[in-house]
Amino acid sequence: MFRQPIFFKRKWESLTLSEWKIPFASVEIDDKEHAAVSNVLTSKWLTMGEVTQQFEQQFAEFLNVKYAFAVSSCTAALHLANVVLGVGAGDEVICPALTFVATANAVRYCGGKVVFADITGDKDLNISQADISRKITSRTKGIILVHYGGYACNMPEIMQIAKKHNLFVIEDTAHAPGASASNVAAGGEAMLGTLGDVGCFSFFSNKNMATGEGGMLVTKRQELADKVRRLRSHGMTALTLERYQGHAHSYDVTALGYNYRLDEIRSAIGIVQLGKLLQHNAARKKLVEHYRRKLERVVGISIPFKKFYGKSAYHLLPILLDQKVKRDDFMNYLKAGGIQTSVHYPALHLFSDFRNTYGFREGHLTKTEAVARMLVTLPLYPSLAFEQVDYVVSKIEDYLKLKGIYS
Ligand SMILES: Cc1ncc(COP(=O)(O)O)c(C=O)c1O
Repeated sequence: MFRQPIFFKRKWESLTLSEWKIPFASVEIDDKEHAAVSNVLTSKWLTMGEVTQQFEQQFAEFLNVKYAFAVSSCTAALHLANVVLGVGAGDEVICPALTFVATANAVRYCGGKVVFADITGDKDLNISQADISRKITSRTKGIILVHYGGYACNMPEIMQIAKKHNLFVIEDTAHAPGASASNVAAGGEAMLGTLGDVGCFSFFSNKNMATGEGGMLVTKRQELADKVRRLRSHGMTALTLERYQGHAHSYDVTALGYNYRLDEIRSAIGIVQLGKLLQHNAARKKLVEHYRRKLERVVGISIPFKKFYGKSAYHLLPILLDQKVKRDDFMNYLKAGGIQTSVHYPALHLFSDFRNTYGFREGHLTKTEAVARMLVTLPLYPSLAFEQVDYVVSKIEDYLKLKGIYS
């Protein structure tokens, strides 16, 4: 049985709503989210109230981190992180180019300069610690990591580099809620997003936890938390709820802040989604293992992250096509079979805006560019059935056989 596909408002060129047999991603919503939203609407308190506080508290407990702030998006969280960590004109921040544009733009909003480091290779698509080291200058202020597809970066080594050079670390954890890695400083494992100075999460519709738009900023550092609390809401000293409850009659504005608040409706959905997260991640894991088993011996493609650090959130299933395979043709063949695929990501430094601003050209990041040319991401979401995976695999095999690459 194929599920009704879900339409997303951006990123995927789309057939009409009902034409995909297997969409790329799916929002896993049931009666619980409906009831939670309905309760908020009945309460008539729609923003920055007790539901948002509850969401923040539960998220903080889940990650075992001291402070969590619900924000309007991961982009907002990344921007706030750069602001409170003091990024300004002339500061360099190192990040990967195999990521969504928001990772790098957050630095640019603050007047900082983005410095891209290459990925590790075609087996590990995360930022290379060796290239981070090569890119450090006297102007480097910090590093933004992306745990690509839910797979942890090499945190022990990266944290060591950061410590040695006195750099901040922001974890763009958009893909990795519920994933973990070893925590050398404290021993044992820690949730991704809690190892660096600040962790930024996304609840955009295709993510492991979805609220429509939405995000969370987490930190263990009180002085950063104090700043984020105010900057999220115009730099004001008192929040709407405090004023309503009579705890504060007036307020001051102490810094240039933003409206990066999350509303109660989305927070209510977030609480339900958080409750389902580990179960959903476990379902993703089984599906990835099934894909791997089925695709292992297929000639013409490879699957990165056979080995990885800690526990993954299995957000994406990337495959790499051999040089002989024409990507557009391959994706169109799957599309004709009703299968929606995507590319995560085109190399960021080769977008016009980055070429024009920084003068980047082909050859700047050879590993990122090689992977970005041959990468395809396959459908992956908790309610995807094993038979649907088999269907995707059969279409991949058919294509490669048709082209004489696999027999
Ligand atoms: C790695 C990464 N960082 C940041 C973002 C931005 O998230 P949001 O859409 O919540 O602003 C995304 C979203 O696609 C992402 O994939």
